[in-house]
Amino acid sequence: MAKKLHIQTYGCQMNVYDSERIAEVLAPLGYVLSDTSEDADMVILNTCHIREKAAEKVYSKLGRLRKQKEKKEQTGGRMILGVTGCVAQAEGSEVLRRAPYVDMVFGPQTYHRLPEMVAKASRANGHVLDTDFPEDNKFDSLPKTRTAEGATAYLSIQEGCDKFCTYCVVPYTRGAEYSRPTAQVLDEARALIKAGVSEITLLGQNVNAYHGENEDGSTCTLADLVRKVATLDGLDRIRYLTSYPAEMTDDLILAHAEVTELMPYLHLPIQAGSDQVLKAMNRQHTVAEYKLIVEKLRKAVPGIALSSDFIVGFPGETDADFEETMALVEEMRFIQAYSFKYSSRPGTPAALLESQDLYRVPEALKAERLARLQALLNANTLAFNKQAVGQTYPVLLDRTGKTPGMLVGRSPYMQAVVVKAEDHLLNTLQNVLITEAGPNSLNGELVETLHRALA
Ligand code: 5AD
Ligand code: SF4
Repeated sequence: MAKKLHIQTYGCQMNVYDSERIAEVLAPLGYVLSDTSEDADMVILNTCHIREKAAEKVYSKLGRLRKQKEKKEQTGGRMILGVTGCVAQAEGSEVLRRAPYVDMVFGPQTYHRLPEMVAKASRANGHVLDTDFPEDNKFDSLPKTRTAEGATAYLSIQEGCDKFCTYCVVPYTRGAEYSRPTAQVLDEARALIKAGVSEITLLGQNVNAYHGENEDGSTCTLADLVRKVATLDGLDRIRYLTSYPAEMTDDLILAHAEVTELMPYLHLPIQAGSDQVLKAMNRQHTVAEYKLIVEKLRKAVPGIALSSDFIVGFPGETDADFEETMALVEEMRFIQAYSFKYSSRPGTPAALLESQDLYRVPEALKAERLARLQALLNANTLAFNKQAVGQTYPVLLDRTGKTPGMLVGRSPYMQAVVVKAEDHLLNTLQNVLITEAGPNSLNGELVETLHRALA
């Protein structure tokens, strides 16, 4: 009989990808995905450690799951509880100490060993803790076929980070930079296309640092890889996430100009608009260097749109530093952005600064700066959305809408576009005339329908 598996995913796209692969690893064991943890035979939390709030969420969720697990046990059943992702990697045995009812704690690099872990955990009282950075690479052992929910999919090509930004836990939780071999990436892309995918987002913590090995032993850059992926039959769109500014090479910028499948939209986090803060963050580039990259990108692809990430209240950030961030945002006109209050992470160099009164930005000031920055970023997003009205965008309709008869898709710039369209158009690319714009989505009409109405 099928066993119910519920996976709850927090954090970044990499975790979304890992969760999909975890489900694929568990499928041969009889586990079938379920939308709810209620009555599930296995619940896995795929966690995020990037900010304190994200990490704490895990423990409150575990507390609630404990009750469901106990209820299941009272009726003679069993719920295997697993924790993976970056909290598992960073805190390992601490998770088992704080939540001893958890059965399996495993890191993002070991989930290919899940069949073995599940067997161990199924035996009466075995906790499993597997947070190695193993010699055997998970990608070599994962299923070769891919399942896909719709027309868009993530494909992880690079993991880990060697940049050591002073605020960030990723170099510790995800380990050293690793690039998958080119042939393996292309095989997985083909498997996704076979499963119905027409838009692939190549993922990596530092995706533009990709340097995979070609079959002849030579090195493949992200630009080379994008060109190879673009030749695959059946693929309409390529994106990649997340890029490190200092690795934005000229060959990648050229690929943006030449590869039509590559979407004219780039997520390029800068974090702050002050050189002093960037230096303290160890970002390895200046504001002027960032602007130069943007200038080159805009020259290569005139309509290219950018999004970014920001941290406010980094230890030592002055009012003047923050004003420089505001000025940069005014100038760059990011169409989308994520912004956060600096959150001190144990073991990182910036945490030492934050522990000193001299450097710490008071919480209220962080909140004030964040509110001002977000107001400006949101205004830019709305302005960009508004200028879409009257334009026709190709939209990949990949979801059903909240109301029947509506489909939702993504514009080239990742805007959600809501359209009245019949179900048979799900997972197809359609031209959509944008008629209305709000802060979070656009409304539009199928251009074909318009033609029909006019005829
Ligand atoms: N505090 C606040 N934000 C952080 N980020 C990473 N580490 C921290 C931290 N310690 C943000 C960065 C990064 C995004 C994924 O999360 O902006 O780009
Ligand atoms: Fe973290 Fe910096 Fe690496 Fe991004 S580049 S994962 S922010 S250390």
